Amino acid sequence: MRFHLFVLFMESQNFYLKSMLYRCAALIVLVSLLGCNVERRKSDVELGLNPQQAAGRRVYDNYCERCHEPYSSRGKKGPSMKEVFKKPFLPSGLPANDERVSEIIRSGHGTMPGFGQVLTPEQVQDLLAYMHSL
Ligand code: HEC
Repeated sequence: MRFHLFVLFMESQNFYLKSMLYRCAALIVLVSLLGCNVERRKSDVELGLNPQQAAGRRVYDNYCERCHEPYSSRGKKGPSMKEVFKKPFLPSGLPANDERVSEIIRSGHGTMPGFGQVLTPEQVQDLLAYMHSL
């Protein structure tokens, strides 16, 4: 009888250990999956942004990010803004310079709405400074 109880006790311990092991394994899988899919948002310092560019990043996040990816070349509603000023031409073929891009921001382009009524000239300048960092 005693031995029987002992065996039962050992089996329950074994079961407990196994279920803990499964839980740990599940947690590790979950964490690694999350790590792969959701890239942590980099801070302004990590991106090396100066104060003007950091201000531009806020504007971008509020008004542009929903349609334009800043750090991935994936398209959203509009084309990616990654390295937009590193290339000589915009996706439409217009020259990639401050004059053109600020005009697009103010007046819109194709299906893109204009922001001339929403953003101050200073915010547009900050935005351009930030976009040069992409
Ligand atoms: C509602 C979605 C939407 C928002 C918000 C938006 N855009 Fe766009 N944007 C587009 C689309 C769509 C295009 C492509 C339009 C086209 O070329 O016909 C575009 C094109 C552009 C282009 C490239 C134009 C070219 O000549 O190829 C730039 C630069 C741009 N957007 C900047 C911005 C900036 C900066 C903001 C934030 C102030 C912004 N966009 C907000 C949808 C959007």
